[in-house]
Amino acid sequence: MTEFSPLIEVTPECNLRCSYCYYTDQMDEFPDFQPEYIDLDVIEAVYESGWSQLGDRPSITGGEPFLHPDIEAIIRYLDAQGATPVVNSNLIPIREDQYGLLEDHVAQVNTSIDHVHAEQHDGQRGGFGAVIDTLEDLVDRDVDVRVTCVLTQNNYEDVGEIFDTLLELDVDGMFFQPAYIPHDDGDLAITDLPDAETHELLDALEPWAQEFDCQRNLEIMADSLLDGGIPEERCVMGESRFVLYHDGRVQPCFDRPDLAAGNVTDHPPRKVLDRVVDRGATIRNEECFNASCVCFFE
Ligand SMILES: C[S@@+](CC[C@H](N)C(=O)[O-])C[C@H]1O[C@@H](n2cnc3c(N)ncnc32)[C@H](O)[C@@H]1O
Ligand code: SF4
Ligand code: SF4
Repeated sequence: MTEFSPLIEVTPECNLRCSYCYYTDQMDEFPDFQPEYIDLDVIEAVYESGWSQLGDRPSITGGEPFLHPDIEAIIRYLDAQGATPVVNSNLIPIREDQYGLLEDHVAQVNTSIDHVHAEQHDGQRGGFGAVIDTLEDLVDRDVDVRVTCVLTQNNYEDVGEIFDTLLELDVDGMFFQPAYIPHDDGDLAITDLPDAETHELLDALEPWAQEFDCQRNLEIMADSLLDGGIPEERCVMGESRFVLYHDGRVQPCFDRPDLAAGNVTDHPPRKVLDRVVDRGATIRNEECFNASCVCFFE
């Protein structure tokens, strides 16, 4: 039976305002935006529900998870359940006294670095110096750190330099992914580059694909950017992953509110989780691939 691990959005609040991020719009465009934080009770409702398909590799995400006042308790709880989490963080709010927690109770830390020069990185994210300092500290302590570089119009020509520099930082993994931005709002997106430039980018990404065994990801990226075929393998969202929001809502994918499965604080969690599996099974890659998303694979 397939196991499903949640991506747990512990808060929508963030200390950054990355130019491509959906949360930036949410925080800045809604004047009544109030940060909210998941209660440990919500996570307990899922992990203590007895649901037979629950996987043991949750991802903690946000917003910025380290702004959650109880993030340490959440991480310790999941690890104690035998579900050692992966944590997605921009690294900036992580304090030195929390490094031990990451060494002992976290399987992997994912972050984003969009350029290796402060000005370009901060042009679309922010806090370059703090990010690099924490990244180096974590690598020194043997925490498994993986870096994503979100490709936009601002950085796609520099992927060779970005790859070489991140390699020197000795990170455990590296992932290049085009920014998912709907076409009508897409000044930053690289989806409409002339084919010759797309081919140059794909060639420049070959060393990365070889070093980190990401050949298939590169093929899928090529199909997406050059309007090629739809991937045969299913996107993991709705296939082996679902999203648990800070308020208890459950969906198969962040981008599929139409497939919302209910709220584990209002309904018996097992029923909500059965429903997310049923609704996730209806997702077809062709519905979303190439629109604003290139699918996730693990
Ligand atoms: C939503 S953030 C949450 C965790 C944390 N705040 C961070 O930035 O790592 C997780 C990751 O989503 C990715 N991301 C955000 N917006 C994106 C977009 N429009 N297109 C592609 N990736 C995006 C970035 O790589 C980011 O690191
Ligand atoms: S740090 Fe993460 S959540 Fe915050 S704005 Fe940037 S990508 Fe979005
Ligand atoms: S391709 Fe994108 S929108 Fe579609 S299920 Fe996967 S992550 Fe969600």
